Parts: sequence; structure tokens; C-alpha cells
Amino acid sequence: MSKVSVIGAGNVGATAVYYIAEKSIAEVVMVDVVEGLPQSKALDFLHTAPLRRYNVQITGSNDYSAIAGSDVVVLTAGIARKPGMDRMDLLKTNVNIAKTASQAIARYAPNAAVVVVTNPLDVISMVVLRETGFALKKVIGMAGVLDATRFRYFIAEELGVWPGDIEAMVMGGHGDTMVPLTRYTSVGGFPIAELLDAATIERLVDRTRKGGGEIVNYLKAGSAYYAPGASAAKMVEAIVKDERQLVAASVYLRGQYGHEGIFLGVPVLLGKNGVEEIIEIELTEEERRALDASAKAVKEGVEQLETFYKPG
Ligand code: NAI
Ligand code: 2OP
Repeated sequence: MSKVSVIGAGNVGATAVYYIAEKSIAEVVMVDVVEGLPQSKALDFLHTAPLRRYNVQITGSNDYSAIAGSDVVVLTAGIARKPGMDRMDLLKTNVNIAKTASQAIARYAPNAAVVVVTNPLDVISMVVLRETGFALKKVIGMAGVLDATRFRYFIAEELGVWPGDIEAMVMGGHGDTMVPLTRYTSVGGFPIAELLDAATIERLVDRTRKGGGEIVNYLKAGSAYYAPGASAAKMVEAIVKDERQLVAASVYLRGQYGHEGIFLGVPVLLGKNGVEEIIEIELTEEERRALDASAKAVKEGVEQLETFYKPG
């Protein structure tokens, strides 16, 4: 059986483990700096196995060496947003956490694919790439799956249809400049423009862009975790089972979509090697402008990173 390690046994990490266990996708290790936290959650998950009928080994540890030999590592360690905070407000604290975790990943799990969740996502992914020294295809940011599932749900709710019938693609950075591609969004194969008027689509796009913030405003003590945990688990499953699933993920671009040297959400095929392929689709003038604006926001984040970050 494959081995998946989840670093950060907080809300998103534990939820991801829950979904991974429910589908018996892999043996799971949870690592956290808080003493007893990953151990307690691992044991609680094991108690649930007879009821939920899964049979995977789940362990918790405060020692990074427990991730040895992992096929996939999910990085969720870090602080989350509170009301009034932007994802970029998390930068300094989470860079330090990502640094420590990445060095441990490189040491103990040198062949793993890393699914990065920690925010600000597109910038932290850059830190993970630099600190692990891994191949570009092995560092994959989770955002597009989450942003798309929110968009899919809002469309389903509006139309009163089964959410699983909606397909959607959200490109760009994981922030308010993300780019939900309405032209590539469909209900049972029909483009949404056939079923919803332009003003309604724009309202749903706007709600998607602010989807994370809507939850932070309700929750106050933190940010979303059920949909983020499920999104990370879906990416883990695609990699572990070598599914070659087409999803949007934040990956390091070398000229694709006209961008160089940044992580940005684009369509990729996920399989056993991580990013098997970056898919380049045609964009309209307007879509390209929106993607460029989103890339600009990510670049500004990286510039902010460079003001204090020293690799190694
Ligand atoms: P949380 O506070 O519930 O959990 C974070 C955990 O990380 C805590 O248990 C903490 O003890 C642990 N931690 C801190 N430093 C660590 C270290 N050096 N090594 C191991 N563990 C460490 O937070 P939550 O809600 O799970 O969010 C985690 C991160 O994920 C946040 O940065 C949040 O913004 C981000 N996020 C990203 C999403 C995305 O779409 N990319 C979606 C949702 C959350
Ligand atoms: C979200 O979109 C906070 O990035 C996190 O829910």
C-alpha cells in the first residue's frame, strides 16, 4: 500500500486524513508540532475503522522522521486566516513553517510528491520548491480543485441540479483574482451560458472568488476545512492511483500561458509522477487578461517574499 504523510494535524490536515481513510487510499502518517495532537487524532480515526469499514494504518507523530518513504506528503502546517486578514497576512509565519517542513520532506521523503495547502498558496509552493530542491513536477499547490468545487456547488444550487453533474475549471492564483472559466463550465455537458444569464453567472463567479472569505467571516476562529481537506484528498488519490486526472493545480510555470518562474493555477494531469503534463488550452482575450492580472498578484506576493526570505 502507498504511504501518505500529512504535515499539520489541524483542521485541514485531519479532514484530509478522514477522506483518505474513508476510501482506503493509503497508509497515513500525521505529523504536528503540538505534542499528542497527531497521536490523538490518529487513534480516534482508528477507533472509527470498524464503523466506517476502512482498514488502513494511521499513525501520529511529533517527529518528522515518521514520514520516511512517503509517496505523497500533504503540507497543511501553518496558521489560517481570521476575519479581516488576507491570505498574504499569513506569509512570514507560514514561510518559516514551510521551510522547516520542506527540509524534513527532502531529508526523509526524497521521492515524494508534495501537495501544498498552506497559504498564501502560490507563494508557499515556491518556498517548498526551493527548500526541497525537488523536480518541478513534484511540487503541486492545491487550490483549483477547491475553487472549482465551490463554483460547481453554487451553480448546482442556483439551477437545483445534482452538484456532481457540474464540471468547472478555475485557473489563476488562489486569491480574489482567481479566474473561474465560465466558457469551460458545464452542466451535464451543456455550457452554463445556455442555462444561466450573464448577470447570474457573474454573481456566482464573484461568490466563488470570495468563497474562502465567506467562511472565514462566519467561522471567525479560522478558515474552511471540509472542502479543502476533500480537495487535497482528491489530489492525493489521483497521484497514488496514477489516475491522470485533469484538474487545476498551482504549478511552476516555464513559459506556459505566457508566465515564467511563478506558481499559478493551470490545468494539469495528475498521476504517479505528480504533474504528468501541463495542459495548455485556448483562452479568449478577456480570459488571458484576467489570468495575467492574477499572475501579477502572485508576482507581487513573491516580491514580498524576497524582501525577507533567504533559502536554506
Ligand atoms: P490549523 O491551525 O487548524 O492547523 C494547522 C496545524 O499546523 C496546527 O495543528 C499546528 O500545530 C500545525 N503546525 C504548525 N507548525 C508546524 C510545523 N512546523 N510542523 C508541523 N505542524 C505544524 O489550520 P488549518 O485550518 O488546518 O489550515 C492550515 C493551512 O492551510 C493554513 O495556512 C490555511 O490558510 C491553509 N488553507 C489553504 C487552503 C487552500 O486552498 N490552499 C484551503 C484551506 C486552508
Ligand atoms: C480557502 O479558500 C482559506 O484558502 C482558504 O478557504
